[in-house]
Amino acid sequence: MIRRNRILRQSASVRSLVRETALQPTDFIVPVFITEGENRKVEVHSMPGYFRYSLDLAIKELEECYALGLRCALIFVKVPDELKDNLGKEALNENGLMQRSVRAIKNALPDMVVITDVALDPYSSFGHDGIVEDQQIVNDKSVAVLARMSVSHAKAGADFVAPSDMMDGRILAIREALEKEGFHNTGIMSYAAKYASCFYGPFRDALDSAPGFGDKKTYQMDPANRLEAIKEVKMDVEEGADIIMVKPAHTYLDIIREVKNEVNIPVSAYHVSGEYAMIKAAAKAGFLNEEQAIIEVLTAIKRAGADLIATYFAKQFAQLIQKNK
Ligand code: PBG
Repeated sequence: MIRRNRILRQSASVRSLVRETALQPTDFIVPVFITEGENRKVEVHSMPGYFRYSLDLAIKELEECYALGLRCALIFVKVPDELKDNLGKEALNENGLMQRSVRAIKNALPDMVVITDVALDPYSSFGHDGIVEDQQIVNDKSVAVLARMSVSHAKAGADFVAPSDMMDGRILAIREALEKEGFHNTGIMSYAAKYASCFYGPFRDALDSAPGFGDKKTYQMDPANRLEAIKEVKMDVEEGADIIMVKPAHTYLDIIREVKNEVNIPVSAYHVSGEYAMIKAAAKAGFLNEEQAIIEVLTAIKRAGADLIATYFAKQFAQLIQKNK
């Protein structure tokens, strides 16, 4: 033998020297669920350990995240039923929960990068990401609303908008709208390769945003497809996206890698609610070690090629790093 591979694995110190992938708090995006009211913190039933907060407590939570080294928040709001309609009117309300949240968070934490979710589902009486006509999700009218919604988020102070709707042509429309309104520094993080996944189930619990009829398969991608992801991502880069995303993450590591090899802009991956819930449930049942599972899965997502990871484990992971220092 002239090569003994175990030489590089013989001790923790040697392994640390040759480790190819290391995670740090600035790799993460913290998803935040915000609800109306004050002093409210409600656990999401299907996401043990994860909460919906009223804005005052969401800010406290983000202050803790910031102190742990986390620098990016992705904001989702739970909209009261009486404000939902088919056109997503409330999404454009300058004093809506999203707009108020962005202003308050940027005010409290100016250096926290704030990204907003742009899609109609939390605002839609049908629970769909776009406008519905004759049971169809219509593309171009939806895109027009998403562009106005993005401008409204930019006005409130969002650093990036994150269209998660999967309509065609929305990145270009959003970019043009931002340019036209003078928001030259507002970025776009595009959910470019977003699959029609069962792993979004717990998230829809969190926001009460499950589709009222049908499913999302006419706009989100077929999990069986690979080349389609490359097509989607390349188009969004051409249309002006600053960061593209693959979603889900844990079950789509192959797609993350292929996308990473294809584009020259940062790639993010969304470790989604169902992927979080699986680890929590298995750990609770005593079937696996939670901390080890978190580290292994998040490392795998970064190793696959994700420059940024949106995950409900962001804070827990940052705490783990601090504990192990
Ligand atoms: C809404 C949106 C969804 C998620 C992020 N933005 C749900 C969906 O598309 O139905 C899923 C996030 C998660 O499951 O953690 N457009």
